[in-house]
This record gives sequence, structure tokens and C-alpha cells, in this order.
Amino acid sequence: MIKVAVLGYGTVGSGVVEVIQDNNALISSRLDDSIEVKYILDLREFPGDKNEKLVVHDVNVIMDDPEISVVCETMGGAGAAYEFTKAALNKGKSVCTSNKELVEKHGPELIALARENGCNYLFEASVGGGIPIIRPMNTSLAPEHIDRIMGILNGTTNYMLTRMSEGGVEYDDVLKDAQELGYAERNPEADVEGHDAGRKIAILASLMTGKTVRYEDIYIEGITKIEAVDFAFADRLGRSIKLIASAQDKDGELSAMVAPRMLSKDHPLSGVSDVFNAIYVTGNMLGDVMFYGKGAGKLATASAVVSDVMELAKAARDKVTLPCRWSAERVQLKDCSDNRLSFFVRTASGEADRLKGALKNAREIAQIDGQTGFITDEMSERELSDAVKGMDVRMIRLD
Ligand code: HSE
Repeated sequence: MIKVAVLGYGTVGSGVVEVIQDNNALISSRLDDSIEVKYILDLREFPGDKNEKLVVHDVNVIMDDPEISVVCETMGGAGAAYEFTKAALNKGKSVCTSNKELVEKHGPELIALARENGCNYLFEASVGGGIPIIRPMNTSLAPEHIDRIMGILNGTTNYMLTRMSEGGVEYDDVLKDAQELGYAERNPEADVEGHDAGRKIAILASLMTGKTVRYEDIYIEGITKIEAVDFAFADRLGRSIKLIASAQDKDGELSAMVAPRMLSKDHPLSGVSDVFNAIYVTGNMLGDVMFYGKGAGKLATASAVVSDVMELAKAARDKVTLPCRWSAERVQLKDCSDNRLSFFVRTASGEADRLKGALKNAREIAQIDGQTGFITDEMSERELSDAVKGMDVRMIRLD
């Protein structure tokens, strides 16, 4: 019998309990062992909940119980979650999590701690919700040199951009809509400013290199400056606008960025709409492969956590260390201003001649709602910002 403890009975934690209980017969038969949630740790009481008797408030009840071999950390944050994860690993209990903040900050340390204690630390649900991406990176893609990862890693902003692309709706209205639907938090900063996607691409870039890519080293730009008129220009160009998190290895130098991009409509990420996420990976032998699905939501994310529970239970039985190449050595990222690409730029039509004079390689594409839009030839980000210094210009990168 595999006995599991779930730390945090919020959206994901309650989903984990639901998946284990509702799919119990199937999970048990695939594990060749029965599985049960023995404890749920939460500060709150849950009167009337069918699992209220499993709720404990003292983490030591879990840590001191030798029957618990797997702990699911679904608390979030990097405070108590960090302490409880270390305590469990030090006791030889394997841990899995959906907590991207903790994984991004302390991933290599927790993986090493698990190894020292003969157990494992897994984090499939920390990136892309229910989409399998961490395990494929560690196993199926192991023979590949990963040249590039491009992802739509945030459901809230993808929903917002999709709505804006459809109806000429402005940013503030679509944010209100996303909040009413429960996608965006009341304080939506982590999503709309790109921080959530930044943490997720930091984790993927770390697995891509086997070293540590820190979120604070990544250039991050959110969607707050995108306006309805940008979609009108994108439409003229046969392009969509997506918040893209990317990491690229070029001649041994890694660059990483989160920023809105205008994608050509035949790019595989262009058709990823609403709250869906997708991760487009280019390997040097395999070529392109794309992972697509629900990047957030209770049961989708919980399903990924439970897939880790099953891996951990099997690994504990077979006494194996699961593959994960992620050392603490910090990667020095390439300065994004050296990236060479084409840009969409727009300015008030009264300023268009000045912009044309400053950017000799820009082709005018249209005038819409008092704005004139241009496409540049390939140039570096630095060359562009130097050329338009002091001018009121909006820019979106092309891909
Ligand atoms: N706020 C995140 C999103 C949830 O919208 O994608 C999943 O990390």
C-alpha cells in the first residue's frame, strides 16, 4: 500500500486528492499496488468535506509517519513549502510539486538533497499544468541537443490576447473579463507582466542546459502595452500576437526572453488559443516537436502531480534515482540587445516621416486609427532602440 500526504488543500491539492480517489482502481492496477491519501495538511478546517478526517494541522504528523513514502507539495510559495520539502526529503520521503516558484529558486538543491537521501524530487506540474513536458525533457528528449524552446506558458495572458485578437477589445476590458472568469488573479501582475512565464521558461532552460538559468537573469516583458490597434496591424500582416517565452542556444551561448511576438499564422504556436499552453521544442536530431494542452486548471494540473506520485512510488519500490540533469552552476545569459531579428514598429502618423528618417530599413505597411505601422529588416535590438531614442514608438518582435 502506497500512502500519500498532500500539503495544501487548495485548488491543486484538492484536485490531487480527487484524481487519486476517483481513478483509484485504475491507478492501483497500473502501480500493481493500492494507493491512498492518508493525510491532508492545511491550516483550515473543511467541515462537510468528504476528506475532512484526513486533515491535519501539524506537519510533523506526516514527517514522523514511516508509512508516508510520497508527499505532494501543492502549497505554493517558497517559504513553508521549502522547509516542508526539505524536511520530507531528509526523512527519505519523495516529494512532487506543482510549485514553479520553489522549483525555479531551489530546484538543483532539492534534487541533490533527494539523491543524498535515496529518494526523488519531481515537478511535472510546475510548467505547462497538465502538459507532459518535464519528463519528456528528462527522458524522451535525452539524446537531443535542444537548440530552442518556444512556449506559450501562461494561460491567462493567452486567453486575454485571444480575446483581443477577435474583437478589437482593449486590454483593460479583457483583463476584467479574465478576472470574472477566474483566470486572472485580482492582482494579475505575475501573469500580465510575464513573471509566471519567466519562472517556467527558467525551469525549462535549466533542463535544456543541465545548469541553472535564473528567472531574474531573463529579460521579461509582459502584455500590458499591447493595444487593440496592434491586432489590426497584425491582421494586415497575416500574423497573430502571442506572449512567447523562449530560450535559444546559439553557438553555445544561451539567450532567454519573455515578450509578446507577432507570429506568422502558419507558425504552430499561432493557433494556440484561449487558456491553452504549448511548448515547441527544436532538437538537433529530432527537429521540431510540440506539446499542447491545458496549462492550468484544477484537474489538469492535479493529473500531472499524480503522474509524479506514480513515478515516485515505482522508483521507491525499485530503489532507483529518476533522471534529472540540473546542476547549481549558473548560466550566464547572452545580452538580449545583441539578438538580431525583424520588428513591427508603430508611431503616431504625424511622426511617421521622422521614424522613416531614423529607421532607413523600415517598410511602411499601413495606417490604422492615426498610427502608422512599419516592418524593419533584421537588426539588433540595440540598433533599433538607438535609432528611435526619444521618439514615441511601440515595438513588437517578429518571429
Ligand atoms: N496563472 C497561471 C496561468 C496558472 O494563467 O497560466 C498556471 O501556472
